[in-house]
Amino acid sequence: MITIAIDGFSSSGKSTMARRLAAKIGYRYIDSGAMYRAVTLYALRHGWASPQGVDTEALVAALPGIEIDFAPQPDGTQHTLLNGEDVEQPIRGIEVSESVSPVAAVPQVRHALVAMQQRLGTGGGIVMDGRDIGTTVFPDAELKIYVNASAETRAQRRYDEMRAKGLQVNYDEILENVRTRDHIDSTRAESPLRKADDAVLLDNSDMTLEQQDAYLLQLYQRTINHASAKN
Ligand code: DC
Repeated sequence: MITIAIDGFSSSGKSTMARRLAAKIGYRYIDSGAMYRAVTLYALRHGWASPQGVDTEALVAALPGIEIDFAPQPDGTQHTLLNGEDVEQPIRGIEVSESVSPVAAVPQVRHALVAMQQRLGTGGGIVMDGRDIGTTVFPDAELKIYVNASAETRAQRRYDEMRAKGLQVNYDEILENVRTRDHIDSTRAESPLRKADDAVLLDNSDMTLEQQDAYLLQLYQRTINHASAKN
């Protein structure tokens, strides 16, 4: 079993892609962004986070008491647990989305979550998506994919997703949030979003889900064949 790392900007469709691939090949899917979101929710509840910044000292001191886990659901999806509480809904809200980038830029938060992610990935058989999976978390992953799509395409996807959930949203606000997060995620000092040299670049702006599934399965098969030819 191999390790598959999928990285890209927010709303690039990488979570959907990772989840569908994992289900097809019988691997475990881990959404690393959900872990940064859970820490952000924790910080918001304590009044330590806002879109402008984080009370780094208070949050870092609390890190040893923050436990994140994933609970498989009957429909095949997973819910994120924060100290045992199912927080899948609140971590997807706009409040968390607006404050997560500054939290994810705190080096101690990254160190703690990267260590958790590496433990979850021990032994392979995992598809993990995020920003630094191919560069920092699993630099030796056998298959790395870097997903790209324009900010407008990604904002439209998020808008459609939120509308489908019955939420009142504004496209321009979402586009602004996407652009701000792109900027923070790719310019932060600690593990910025970056394509690993050995990652396959995938622009899915004009791809259907089915085309994307077929492409990923082909990449996976090729990687497996290559790995067994070497052994
Ligand atoms: O993929 P997402 O939008 O759910 O990620 C939420 C935030 O977490 C995003 O703004 C960047 C951060 N993140 C990160 O810094 N490193 C990761 N491996 C995953 C997410």
